[in-house]
Amino acid sequence: MKQSKFNLGSQDRFGYEWSKFDRIIPQYELQFLKWVCPLKVNDFKGKKLLDAGCGIGRNSYWPLKYGAKEVFAFDYDKRTVSVAKKNLSQFKNVHVKYDSVYNIRFKNKFDVAFSIGVIHHLEHPHKAVQKLVDSVKKGGVVLIWVYGYEGNEWIVKYVNPIRKITSHLPLEIINIFTYSMSVPLYAFVKLLPQKHPYLKQLSKFEFWHLHSIIFDQLIPKIANYWTKEEALGLLQNKGLKNIKAYHVNNNSWTVLGRK
Ligand SMILES: C[S@@+](CC[C@H](N)C(=O)[O-])C[C@H]1O[C@@H](n2cnc3c(N)ncnc32)[C@H](O)[C@@H]1O
Repeated sequence: MKQSKFNLGSQDRFGYEWSKFDRIIPQYELQFLKWVCPLKVNDFKGKKLLDAGCGIGRNSYWPLKYGAKEVFAFDYDKRTVSVAKKNLSQFKNVHVKYDSVYNIRFKNKFDVAFSIGVIHHLEHPHKAVQKLVDSVKKGGVVLIWVYGYEGNEWIVKYVNPIRKITSHLPLEIINIFTYSMSVPLYAFVKLLPQKHPYLKQLSKFEFWHLHSIIFDQLIPKIANYWTKEEALGLLQNKGLKNIKAYHVNNNSWTVLGRK
């Protein structure tokens, strides 16, 4: 597929991933609550939400369970959208669509607009965040979760150069490659006691889930690892106040602001 200037979010490559790792599992709830900290379960009750770049729908699923009033979830890959539709089919108050974050047309509509694990893969992150800001009503919250530089220096140093090659390889080959890498990591986190919060979290995952995380690291064309200042900068000067960053798992940033 020819890449246009707004088409470098690796959605086709993530589409392959989501068609392989398509299940919503209970462990995703804790992961979701970490990603959206400092929001709590009650902050979603009765609220209108936007989930930009929803993947399989795992981050819309929990707010819907918590009693969200209405959720608009969208992704820029058709395969992914059909998986999300299936995963969220039990809810009547969700709309799952195929669209790009750059095309959000909602204005002053949502109580919360979030984009989890998407913005750091985009070629125009500021443009995408501005769209999220436009979509929330006054007093509404914009929240993004992005890879951090702090805590991921080793990924930036050792994994990023590998990703620059693997992001051009056929996905079936990366699948086999990452499968073989997942075996020793799985043994490591399962057999040895883990202190680091992220490794502790990984130790509770099944093999396929660990594999999906490694696979996810090596497929995208763009993967930015932002410092706290850079992550805060994504929300600044866009009409938000009270902008704060939270260090999640000592390796990523949840940044949140209010309109
Ligand atoms: C790492 S996945 C995260 C998915 C989901 N938010 C989650 O946490 O499970 C990144 C997602 O962003 C989507 N994406 C990439 N470019 C996009 C765009 N321009 N607009 C909307 N979604 C996009 C991909 O298709 C992919 O599903």
